[in-house]
Formats: sequence, C-alpha cells, structure tokens
Amino acid sequence: MIDALSYVLVGTSDLPAWIRMATDIAGLQAEEVEHGRSVRLRMDDKVQRLLLQATTGKPTLGMGYTVANAAVLETVVKRLEAAGFTVTPSTAEERALRGVAGMAHFLDPDGYRVELAYGMQDAATPFMPGRPIGGFRTKAGGVDLGIGHTALMAGDFTAMKHLYQDVLSFRMSDRASAPFVAEFFHVNPRHHTIGLADTGTGPGVYHFMLEYKDWDDVGRAYDMALEHPESIGVSLGRHTNDHVTSFYLRTPDGWMLELGWAGRLIGHDWEVTELPGMSLWGHDRTWLPPQNARKRARS
Ligand SMILES: [Fe+2]
Repeated sequence: MIDALSYVLVGTSDLPAWIRMATDIAGLQAEEVEHGRSVRLRMDDKVQRLLLQATTGKPTLGMGYTVANAAVLETVVKRLEAAGFTVTPSTAEERALRGVAGMAHFLDPDGYRVELAYGMQDAATPFMPGRPIGGFRTKAGGVDLGIGHTALMAGDFTAMKHLYQDVLSFRMSDRASAPFVAEFFHVNPRHHTIGLADTGTGPGVYHFMLEYKDWDDVGRAYDMALEHPESIGVSLGRHTNDHVTSFYLRTPDGWMLELGWAGRLIGHDWEVTELPGMSLWGHDRTWLPPQNARKRARS
C-alpha cells in the first residue's frame, strides 16, 4: 500500500543553519525556492527529498509517503477516513512545491503532518552534492527503499501504532522492551521506515536517518562534526536491528539527523525478534547524564 518514505517536511526556526548542516556536512544539494522561506534539498535524481520551510513557531517534522498511483491514494484515504481521520486534499501550490502529481494529507494521533503522494518528479538536472560524496542510498536493485527512516517518541503509543500498523499496513520489523518499549516498522526492504518509542515523555522527534552509499562519507562527515563536538548528539556506533553504522548530528531544531551506512535489507521471510539493546557498539548518547544512563542506553 505505502511504497516508501519519499520525503520529509522540516519546519525550522533557523533556516540558514539547517542549510549549512545539510549541504556542508551531510552533502545534500540545496535549491532555494523562496529566499529565507523555503528550500528544497535533493539527495538523488528526485526534485526534492527534504523540504525546509522557515517557521517562527515550534519546529515541525512531517513525513511524505508515496503510493503507486491515484487509485491507491484513494484506497488509503478511504481507509484513513473509515478509521476516523480527516484527510485534506492538496492544493496545486503544495503539489508544485513538492514536485508530485497528487497528494493528500492528515495529522497523525501525535499531531505530525503525514502526506500521501504519488508521481514524484525527477529533476531536470543531475544531482550535485553539497560536498564530494558517493551519493545516497534510496534504491537497491531497482527497488525503492525511500530516503531513510524517522524515529519518533510517541505521545499516544497505542494510537500511533494502530495508525501505522493496522490502518496504513506497515509491517513490524522488531521490538525492544528496555529501557522503554520501542517498535520498528517497514514498508519495503529497508529494515525500518518508522520507529516508535513509548518513552512516556510526550510526543517528540528523536531522529531522521539518511544513508550514504559509501562508508567513507560517514567518516568524513564525522571528521567535520568532530571540529564542533557539541554538534554530535550520538557518537559513532552500529545498530543491532538495521545494522546501520552511523552517528547523529544535532539539528538546529533540537532533534537529530542520523548519518548512516550499510542498512540491512529484509524480505518476506523476516521474523519479528526482541532486541537485546539498540547498539552493537558505540552510539554514546552525549545528551544523557554520564555513567549509568549512558551505559544502559548503549547496551
Ligand atoms: Fe535510526
């Protein structure tokens, strides 16, 4: 039903800082749409993969999922409406900004804007990264993997899980019970497209992950981040579940951007497992109080 997470919408209070981080460190390509207001970030042949918009209010993150065509979109909208969600059609201006043929949007139970789109355009020009990199992994063997994953701290975990798993048919990848319940869901061979954590801290964005094709590009980004150690939210490490080796940059909006490599792909024979911890090594959460909490989170 849902094919992939194909773009994210970032509402930021510091657009210039976001552009600097995205281009200079992550290596994305920035294309200004409206000066000081709106910027498209590219990571491959598509016209945009992150849409940055300046806001004077609270920072926001929205998710743009793609479906095959208008008929599938209509089916998904009907399912959402039957489940009690109010789905709003897109305007021509919204479709033009995103470079999609069709789109509808709604708010999930935690208030995140979720967009469902089809017909995402290719750009007229080749991808020109913000720094020399080998590119981002959005496909494998011709299969669309989407741009990465989002990890959210759920305010209403039960309602969020119901939406993604039961209404939108995301399939569970695996789960962890400690130090809090976290569950991971996929829609294509990428191990997870969304992670939901029941932290009891209210709704919040933990991170958004994007994936390089080359390991050296993670290393070079890490070198640059180390020049400003306070910019690193989670140190270099490797995850137990998606096998991604990564570190996390702090974005200007408080949540983190995970820069990773070598995410595992899964198939229909995948079996849900209980995770013993989140990382095989590393991933020191620099924002937690030292010693015990950090040790526990890393294990
Ligand atoms: Fe992640």
